[in-house]
Amino acid sequence: MLKTHGCGELRVEHVGQEVTLAGWVSRRRDMGGVVFVDLRDRSGKVQVVIDAGYLQQHFDLAQQIRAEYVLQVRGEVVRRLPGQENRQMATGEIEVKVKEQVVLNPAKTPPFQIDRETAVDESLRLKFRYLDLRRERLQRNLTLRHRAVKFVRDFLDARGFLEIETPILFKSTPEGARDYLVPSRVHPGKFYALPQSPQQLKQLLMVAGYERYFQIARCFRDEDLRADRQPEFTQLDMEMSFVTRDDILDLVEEMIIGMVKHASLVPLATEPFPRLSYREAMERFGTDRPDLRYGLELVDITDIAAHSAFRVFAENAAAGNPVKAICVPGCGNYARREIAELEEIAKANGAKGLATMALDPDTGEMKGFITKFFTVEQLVALTERLQAQPGDLLLFASDSRSVVNAVLGALREEMGRRLGLKETKALSFCWVIDFPLFEEKLEDGHYAPSHHMFTAPKREHIPLLDTDPAAVLSEQYDLVCNGFEVAGGSIRIHERPLQRKIMELIGFSWQQAEEQFGHMLEAFEYGAPPHGGIAPGIDRLVALMAGEPNIREVMAFPKTAQATDLMSDTPSYVMQKQLDELHLTVRLPQAEKM
Ligand code: AMO
Repeated sequence: MLKTHGCGELRVEHVGQEVTLAGWVSRRRDMGGVVFVDLRDRSGKVQVVIDAGYLQQHFDLAQQIRAEYVLQVRGEVVRRLPGQENRQMATGEIEVKVKEQVVLNPAKTPPFQIDRETAVDESLRLKFRYLDLRRERLQRNLTLRHRAVKFVRDFLDARGFLEIETPILFKSTPEGARDYLVPSRVHPGKFYALPQSPQQLKQLLMVAGYERYFQIARCFRDEDLRADRQPEFTQLDMEMSFVTRDDILDLVEEMIIGMVKHASLVPLATEPFPRLSYREAMERFGTDRPDLRYGLELVDITDIAAHSAFRVFAENAAAGNPVKAICVPGCGNYARREIAELEEIAKANGAKGLATMALDPDTGEMKGFITKFFTVEQLVALTERLQAQPGDLLLFASDSRSVVNAVLGALREEMGRRLGLKETKALSFCWVIDFPLFEEKLEDGHYAPSHHMFTAPKREHIPLLDTDPAAVLSEQYDLVCNGFEVAGGSIRIHERPLQRKIMELIGFSWQQAEEQFGHMLEAFEYGAPPHGGIAPGIDRLVALMAGEPNIREVMAFPKTAQATDLMSDTPSYVMQKQLDELHLTVRLPQAEKM
């Protein structure tokens, strides 16, 4: 080794020892006759002192070194003089008096400061990712990620799980996104698909009798990117045989709680995790991934509004639709412009308009255009139902149930953000269970699966598949944290006839089903055990535990929102020879032709 110790390891007990260190120059201060260098490696920083009086030729050299030079020093650990200790540094009580130093490599001036967390344009950070990775924030995040994954591996190992790798070059497994395809050289015109998840393979491992499988699995999805979506990301992919839904939820909950306690910088808010049905989540929060760090719940006021003189509400209620509201504390003084902004959000989610009321901050009197359509008793009933206080703002929605929930869900999110309620530093997990098996009926008469096509319907709902597929509930479950879906899974179908039936409802012809999933259907005929699983998203969980707003901050080499890598300029054109070998012809869209 070119070093005897890590820079950040040295403490008072090392005083008197001779050490050799190697690392990067974090800062250099020339105090005339003495040069102080903060030397940094992955373990931390330490101050090294190069004294002209001690060694002239090293002093001359020290004057030439700059930030990010790679330096090796040999010297003695000494206690700093009283009053010169640095309480901010873990090594601040000591310094290293240099006897010898070697510049292992000089460095150009970096495009941004490494030793300070100054704001740097993200594209510059991504272009020089290897420098960004030297900074404290990413070191902390990647260390946290390692600790979290290590915890999970140990936890699952102790419970009898086997870690098994599955292929990256495989057949398409639909998870709702587009596939990344890899052309075959050997089989002209044929393609592999990169896995959107190892879903089929983990189920086949259950058929093979492995009973408890996991994998830290890389998944690939060609979809629009957001703060919580990358084209390649990592799942903790799991599957178990002979289990019920609750066996899986209990085990995963224990694992997540353990992982958070072991690795997270942000504390846990709730333990055990609440379990909400999909319906309850939609009714109370307007979304199937509720942020439970704050209230602002959706409240049903249909019975009160139905008897008001406000026609929109009364007619809607008479037609069997709901009228609901949220009460936003302290926003009763919102100006017309601010209400107009909220109305835009409501309209973007399907509302025709936004009805509001405000409670006077002093008198508590209800104000707003629609109040005149309500009797005093009705206004009192509204105030009580919504637990409204003077100074509060009430936002109403009246439409179909799905529009009402979507509108108020979006407004709840917006107001949570505006009121700073989303900044609460706590991890608020919940399970969402009892999802519908299908999303709404498609125009072509088929159904899109709410999770994926291998999800089992609830046993008692199987007869409904023939009569009312939209009403069928499934064995799907999601784990949600602070408004993000952090895991999704289900009990699977393990019988061929049921799987075929679901494929038909989704719109697969007999031939398509056999072509794409014949191997799965066949496997189900060779003694497939009842099984189920889940896949927590590692990137999202780590970002939440690190208090980061974007999963890019917890990935070593993430892609931009345009799915590019700025450091290596990926994706890029390839040589004609490579295309020929793959039997491919490229036809660029018109605008991009050279
Ligand atoms: P699902 O599609 O719900 O389920 O994905 C599981 C979890 O993976 C994470 N995730 C992502 N993270 C970052 N970038 C993305 N583009 C992205 N897409 C998904 C989320 C999500 O909850 N095979 C099933 C799992 C199963 O049924 O066992 C599946 O992939 O945290």
